[in-house]
Amino acid sequence: MHHLLKLGLVNLLLLLLILQLTYAVAASSQQCSTAPNGMQMCGHQLLPKGVCLWRQGIILNGIFTGASRPDCIFQLRDPEFLRVIGKRPKLELVAYADAHEGGVYFPDKEEFYFSSTKKSEPEPNIKLLKLSLATKKVSTLFETTPMSNGMVLDQSGNLVVCQQGKGAQGGFIQRFNLHNLNQTSIVADNWFGLPFNSPNDVVVKSDGSIWFTDPDYGWVQGFKKYAPRVNNQVYRISTDGQVDAVADGFTKPNGLAFSHDEKRLYVTDTGSSVGDGTVDVSKPHSIYVFDVNSDGKTLSNGRMFASVASFDGSYAGIGAPDGIKVDTEGRVYTANTDGVQVFRKDGELLGMIRVRGSANMGFAGKKLHQMLILNDTAIHSVHLQAGGSNLFYATHHAA
Ligand SMILES: *[C@@H]1O[C@H](CO)[C@@H](O)[C@H](O)[C@H]1NC(C)=O
Repeated sequence: MHHLLKLGLVNLLLLLLILQLTYAVAASSQQCSTAPNGMQMCGHQLLPKGVCLWRQGIILNGIFTGASRPDCIFQLRDPEFLRVIGKRPKLELVAYADAHEGGVYFPDKEEFYFSSTKKSEPEPNIKLLKLSLATKKVSTLFETTPMSNGMVLDQSGNLVVCQQGKGAQGGFIQRFNLHNLNQTSIVADNWFGLPFNSPNDVVVKSDGSIWFTDPDYGWVQGFKKYAPRVNNQVYRISTDGQVDAVADGFTKPNGLAFSHDEKRLYVTDTGSSVGDGTVDVSKPHSIYVFDVNSDGKTLSNGRMFASVASFDGSYAGIGAPDGIKVDTEGRVYTANTDGVQVFRKDGELLGMIRVRGSANMGFAGKKLHQMLILNDTAIHSVHLQAGGSNLFYATHHAA
């Protein structure tokens, strides 16, 4: 009796082990068979070629197995992802370029503006560059800048740039006339006399107000001389130049975007990227969402929209969400170093477009169906079924 029970237990354990191994193998490989019209059958789902199903996977002997395939560019986690990428998704390398932040499409010239990665030698610097979509050539607008970062077009088609400042210089928001770069003005450089930290990313609301994030990366990264005098907040600049703090409580507020209907504001927090090269996984790597009150200028009900990590657990940097954009269906896109992750309005993760090193992205082209992805060494392009939203000037001045 006793013996039999023991044998039963051993068998049960063996069975469990075999089951676990089988699951791990099944999770790490994906059996697909070719189907007509360039499609493939994966499990019971008909998928375009180049798309694969994301799997949860397990950690087996310390190795995370089955979550994703490194060679797969379009990783589907929810069938709605197909409505984002369309029937023939294809990622193209447009140009090699030192492309980090920004990603702003200017329809008048069919150009795409961005800022480079930070160089420290001989002194701290960031360049401001542009890509011509027609010739695929990259050219330099400014060899040296006050550490330019995120940017956006205002309602009149001017480029609004976050300037982090360097040395003793405070951060500021600067506006450029893209038809004559010598015509520039400072939109704001302080909040009640207190200089900004290092403005990081910026958006313009349909009422013309300018909203931006202001983390203290410049100080932490050592290119600013003075310690922060304000908290890492989000600001709103009204059309008559008044500056108000609208949200705080962040570690490193970074990308921001209004939802398609402007009833929500999304703000990413890259707190886990400390800024001195280290990673602190106890700090945020999430997207937060706020309701925009009916006055159109204040926020309430801040909460987590999605906590973000790299898709296959492979990044030491955990995969904090940096740039953020939205589409006309209310979906949210964030670049998080292993690619562009796409979320539904309710926060559900739909899938990922894998481009390693992604920092930001921007919608471009006539109807804003082209997504250009910046990954620090290159610009990739993907034509989406989804279309970019809240790009007032580009929407009303299609080339
Ligand atoms: C960016 O993409 C290019 C081309 O696909 C790749 O060679 C490069 O390693 C990527 N950059 C980073 C930082 O991962």
